Amino acid sequence: MSKVIKGGTIVTADRQWKADVLIEGEKIAQIGENLKGDETVDAEGAYVIPGGIDPHTHLEMPFMGTTAAETFESGTFAAAAGGTTMLVDFCLPGEDGSLLNAIDDWDRKSRDQICTDISYHMAITGWNENIFNEMEAVVKERGINTFKHFMAYKGALMVEDDEMFASFKRCAELGALPLVHAENGDIVQELQQKYLAEGITGPEGHAYSRPPEVEGEAANRAIMIADAAGTPLYIVHVSCEQAHEAIRRARQKGMRVFGEPLIQHLTLDETEYFNKDWQYAARRVMSPPFRSKDHQASLWAGLSSGSLQVVATDHAAFTDKQKQMGLDNFTTIPNGTGGLEERMAMLWTTGVETGRLTPEEFVAATSTNIAKILNIYPLKGGINVGGDADVVVWDPTISREIAVSTQKSIIDYNVFEGRTVTAQARYTLSRGEVIWAYGQNSQPQPGRGKFVRRPAFASASQALSKWKSLNTPRKIERNPLNIPAGV
Ligand code: URP
Ligand code: ZN
Ligand code: ZN
Ligand code: ZN
Repeated sequence: MSKVIKGGTIVTADRQWKADVLIEGEKIAQIGENLKGDETVDAEGAYVIPGGIDPHTHLEMPFMGTTAAETFESGTFAAAAGGTTMLVDFCLPGEDGSLLNAIDDWDRKSRDQICTDISYHMAITGWNENIFNEMEAVVKERGINTFKHFMAYKGALMVEDDEMFASFKRCAELGALPLVHAENGDIVQELQQKYLAEGITGPEGHAYSRPPEVEGEAANRAIMIADAAGTPLYIVHVSCEQAHEAIRRARQKGMRVFGEPLIQHLTLDETEYFNKDWQYAARRVMSPPFRSKDHQASLWAGLSSGSLQVVATDHAAFTDKQKQMGLDNFTTIPNGTGGLEERMAMLWTTGVETGRLTPEEFVAATSTNIAKILNIYPLKGGINVGGDADVVVWDPTISREIAVSTQKSIIDYNVFEGRTVTAQARYTLSRGEVIWAYGQNSQPQPGRGKFVRRPAFASASQALSKWKSLNTPRKIERNPLNIPAGV
């Protein structure tokens, strides 16, 4: 069975042009004019773009004494409805600390539920010989080339600098990419106690206890540790100028440091936490917190200039009831917000419609850049002959208001509720199959998604280790005859 996506304007990270896309089975077979196939997918008046890739989600994540309510089924269907065809979820080790058991656990949860393709990042939440050993199997046998480190959540997920350094060195050996959540967890804990003691128990205390400096310091520290370990680095949920500045400075020095702002930080600001309605504010509690407009401007500038490369969501969706675990203490409100379904439409509306991003930059930030960073390009992340037919017919004429009543997410609110978005996925195709058609009552197809294996990186780590070995401190050999005899 073949399909032709007909009459649209293809937009990739490089260019736009009018052409049809022929799909044979799961792959893109041909790109050109007047192509014919067994079926036609109408793209008249629309763009044809690579399926979105959201590299940061927490579906069914056990966290802060509860479990994120969004399931792999509802989450991946919400993704499809929003034009996202692949997501990368964070796999957290359980009680036994084993990485491989954690992957088995995540597979058990996700396998029969996923409607789109997925992958995992593996979290390193402690350090010992078993973790060191298992990291090799995670990369070589399980197809996971990224390891996440939390510099915050003290007493839970947080790792110390020596553990991070050891893990980063192991990543360098294995050709894997370390990721960090950059916030100084020690200082956050102190500030939380200070504001609680002052009687600030509501969600505003969450914002006060995690100021931008705390994020900037941790970003600088992680960059220094990555440099010492000889590895590239990816910083998740960059929310402020301080962290962005650290990334810019590192890149200017030639380091391969990548930064990922979230759609939430680009479009929502800190005043959300000052809302008189406790529940409204608690729904927005996530780490790092939303920032002021100046920080937002910095993030937008990073996306258009290239110092920040990827827009993600960190989708961690807790219900109103779950948020109420922190009714009288903001430090026990489960951290996380949603956005998986809205990421593409919100970025288009606030980025492309305002002229802050070109359509090509939009494609780069939502799909192509992360596919390259995660080592799955050109299989994913482009409109490429031979690549997976993960393609979205992106309709810039559909305007709609974001509403809980129409969302696919299963939680009871939406942090973007009431915002009007001016583009939408008319069709979402995953490996050649239409999994979402706007206004046609599409239903989830749990179990059809696949786990995407991501091989270890060869070039970046090889280039880096070659450069390091050419420039390593060396003993200077001296002619003994030229050395003073001493006394
Ligand atoms: O608040 C957040 N971001 N929750 C999810 C876990 C994390 O830190 O990414
Ligand atoms: Zn510490
Ligand atoms: Zn985080
Ligand atoms: Zn996260």
